Amino acid sequence: MCGIVGYVGKQKAVPLIIEGLKRLEYRGYDSAGVAVLHNGAFEVAKKIGRVTNVELQAAKQKLSGTYGIGHTRWATHGGVTDENAHPHVSSDGRIALIHNGVIENYAQIKRFLLSKNYTFKSETDTEVLCNLVAYHYAKEPVATNGDSRFVESVRKTLRHTEGTYGIVIMATDAPGELVTARKGSPLILGLGDGESLVASDVSAIVSRTQSVVYLKDGEIAHLTANSFAITTLDAGTVEPVVDKVTWSITDADMGSHSHFMEKEIFEQPTALENAMRGRFSEDGSTANFGGLNISANEFRGVDRLMFCACGTALHACMVTEHLIERFARIPVECDYASEFRYRNTPLFRNSLFFVMSQSGETIDTLAALREAKRKGYKVLAINNVVGSTIAREADGGIYQHVGPEVGVASTKAFTSQLLIGAMLALYLARMRDMSFSDGTQMVQALKGTPDLVRKALLQAPHIQNIAKRYAKATDMLFLGRLSLFPIALEGALKLKEISYIHAEGYPAAEMKHGPIALISEQCPSVFFAPNNEIFNKVVSSMQEIKARKGPIIAIITEKAELPAGLADEVIVIPECHEAVLPIVASIPVQLLSYYIAVERGCDVDKPRNLAKSVTVE
Ligand code: M6R
Repeated sequence: MCGIVGYVGKQKAVPLIIEGLKRLEYRGYDSAGVAVLHNGAFEVAKKIGRVTNVELQAAKQKLSGTYGIGHTRWATHGGVTDENAHPHVSSDGRIALIHNGVIENYAQIKRFLLSKNYTFKSETDTEVLCNLVAYHYAKEPVATNGDSRFVESVRKTLRHTEGTYGIVIMATDAPGELVTARKGSPLILGLGDGESLVASDVSAIVSRTQSVVYLKDGEIAHLTANSFAITTLDAGTVEPVVDKVTWSITDADMGSHSHFMEKEIFEQPTALENAMRGRFSEDGSTANFGGLNISANEFRGVDRLMFCACGTALHACMVTEHLIERFARIPVECDYASEFRYRNTPLFRNSLFFVMSQSGETIDTLAALREAKRKGYKVLAINNVVGSTIAREADGGIYQHVGPEVGVASTKAFTSQLLIGAMLALYLARMRDMSFSDGTQMVQALKGTPDLVRKALLQAPHIQNIAKRYAKATDMLFLGRLSLFPIALEGALKLKEISYIHAEGYPAAEMKHGPIALISEQCPSVFFAPNNEIFNKVVSSMQEIKARKGPIIAIITEKAELPAGLADEVIVIPECHEAVLPIVASIPVQLLSYYIAVERGCDVDKPRNLAKSVTVE
């Protein structure tokens, strides 16, 4: 959740670290800090609030040098204070450390360190870890296995540490050296020209180099400006794999947009084109996926699918469930990854397990994947961030290929998950009962999605006006049926996370079993009412709301004819194939939430209390 950047090279470290932290601010943003080594001592600038506060503080303190570490924090242990912000420096002044994750046995370690006269300024588990490195560093004057004493002291520390971590460390006696290690929190090494970087996210590195090494759990890396070496916790050596990042820094810039969320909403036609490129069969009747690592025969033997994810990604799984059951007639179950991991769900012999995650780092989703693997199941991942932990631990999977998603509120990643879910439904259906001609028809429909999304986006000015009228609402309902029920859930999630308006998503007909009690002139309902076989049923639900004076915002398809005066606001989206409908119907709710949040003056890209990827339990 927090962001990490470390730099060693020829350039001024502080501006580079600050630039990297700004790119990571979306991951967590209650405080930040940087540390450099100057004349044999650490100089640290830390401030609560945004990275710009630290930037000013670092300038005031005149921090300089070509070597340093920086961090953006999302508080876990200890409140949001300058003292609790990272980097932390050990009480003997010899070690500086930044950390993502949670040290579970910190209290026990702290007791031990207090007995050894180490002292603490903060309430964090990180300062405990920092002092434990200092303790081993002071105690182990010579490494026995050829490693530097610095690396060895980190290794000893981590052997006594329970929990999760991504850490970067500097030592006063080792200028120009960074030691970094991970367990459960992502870390990537950047190998530049006469410089090395380490960060928790590629976006903090990619302006300097596209050559990266994804560190694995249990690995420790030692970096200097011109070298790097990776070993394991038990001192084994690691042959590193250097990867090339396929996107550039401009992909992670806001361009002419006011917010990343706005940029990412309008990027969706291109994102969807990228997500489906090269993924249809030559005969044009089914989908093709390169990285599944499961033969068509194995797929044919699957008689049940299980999907686990969190938040928006879970809503994409729920739409996928609907489409797979509808077209391929295979039973599908979806579960919150956080529940699945402890629920001991019965799985079936021929179950196939999927996880979905934009970041590929969500700890609950990762834990669900590991639990399914422990039970002996193959796990496939639908994931956006290339090289993420989930991508690496899954047996195979499908990359979303939509480039970096920076806005905390997921938009383009969500619709690309819906598209991939629809393509998966097609793939499975064609192996079973779907005919060649139905398959080609569905392929044509899926190929047309980007244009339909372009058309839906033309509604933006109209939706912006609607948003102005409803921005003061305190509660809102989102109501949809069938594959649009998960889109109702998603609409409610989108609205509450960025505008802080209380919102709930329900199957439209379920509304009368409770939520109808909320209806008043102050509680608008957003209805999805496409032109389909249950359109009239949805209209009846609208009538029930109208009879209780609830304002109605109706999202209808072109051919749907609403009774005059029933809806207060109407947003028209194009008619489309039912596999495409959830994607196109998502656009108006993304825009509505976005414009309402802007109207309310909310910090759209960095909503309070949230982080882009949730890497703690
Ligand atoms: O990276 P993931 O897809 O695993 O993230 C899962 C959720 O944390 C995420 O979708 C969250 O709900 C978003 N903020 C929604 O916009």
